[in-house]
Amino acid sequence: MLKDRKARPEGVGESRIHNFGAGPAVLPLSVVEEVQAALPNLHNSGFGLCEISHRSDTFQAVVDSAMDRIRRVLSVPDDYTILFLQGGASLQFYMTALNLLKPGEQADFIETGIWSKKAIAEANRVGQANNIWSDSENGFRCIPGEDEYAISEDSIYLHYTSNNTLMGTQHQHLPDSGGKPIVVDASSDIAGVPIDVSAHDVIYAGAQKNLGPSGVTLVILSPWALARAKENTEAGRLPTMLDYTIHTSKGSLFNTPNTFGIFVLDCVFKWLEENGGLAGSIERNRAKSSLLYEELDSSDMWVPHAEKSSRSVMNVTWRCANEDLESIFLEEAQAAGLGGLKGHRSVGGIRASLYNGCPIESVEALVEFMRGFRERHS
Ligand SMILES: Cc1ncc(COP(=O)(O)O)c(C=O)c1O
Repeated sequence: MLKDRKARPEGVGESRIHNFGAGPAVLPLSVVEEVQAALPNLHNSGFGLCEISHRSDTFQAVVDSAMDRIRRVLSVPDDYTILFLQGGASLQFYMTALNLLKPGEQADFIETGIWSKKAIAEANRVGQANNIWSDSENGFRCIPGEDEYAISEDSIYLHYTSNNTLMGTQHQHLPDSGGKPIVVDASSDIAGVPIDVSAHDVIYAGAQKNLGPSGVTLVILSPWALARAKENTEAGRLPTMLDYTIHTSKGSLFNTPNTFGIFVLDCVFKWLEENGGLAGSIERNRAKSSLLYEELDSSDMWVPHAEKSSRSVMNVTWRCANEDLESIFLEEAQAAGLGGLKGHRSVGGIRASLYNGCPIESVEALVEFMRGFRERHS
């Protein structure tokens, strides 16, 4: 079990498992405790975290603080908009296309996994979604090189999924869009890997992996994206709740937002700021994933899913060479206090998610367990 370094009230920390779940995922324990303290009384307002008006000054201060921290940690340019929306990344598959495309227009998509596939399906309801590169035949094991796809002459933007949560692959750098605007689904690596926000026009991410709980979606928009949305608003094409301009004009408070989720996001970004900012999180995630990949590469017992050049630092996926051993691995791991390791059904096998909240001690415990497992079963 995960040992807590600081002294804590009995029961807190001691019974927490090493959590490798893909999301909702582990949060830093200090964040969980900050949330616990705010539940009965948020920032000494006398109102509990889940009991306070989103129109109160106390809650407005939380929204402002979260937005300021995000701007600082991710170096979001001043003229970019930050939104906290609901509906998950799945709603953004549709909402981005609805706001950015006009009737008859098209966008390009790089298909690197099931989430990209879903983004394509939703965008196709709005306009023409061109699938310009797909790795589906190869079991989604890799990410394309820049000379492997061609941007369509008439496309308005390029969409990619920066990290493929199920497959364990990740873009290692910004894809070349031939100068066209770029939209990214960064749900499973936002604030965990380097990102040049200014090179993107829409960034969206469900919070429940690297940033906080489920139910709140971070959306970052460039002036270009907002201008496109405005043209669609003025043409009467956007339902109110799916209109970026409405949410922007109301500072993410058009209707009742996920107040709990926004508070947790503020705590997570505070924790990031106190722990070396984005650079600190990049360094920790590299160290964690290197440790695990080293073990995977050290024995024929493990068969990593992703091709080496496309490996993710956030979700590490592998099979046992003898697939019959996988259920035993998962059972023994659970008994050893290592949870959430079952691979997604589309890939099978084992997956360890190493998001920001996952401490290196958890990865060390996993690697130690894997070495012992090898000895016992080879
Ligand atoms: C890369 C990616 N995109 C989209 C989604 C869907 O997110 P949501 O459940 O927030 O709609 C997920 C969920 O795991 C994901 O990993």
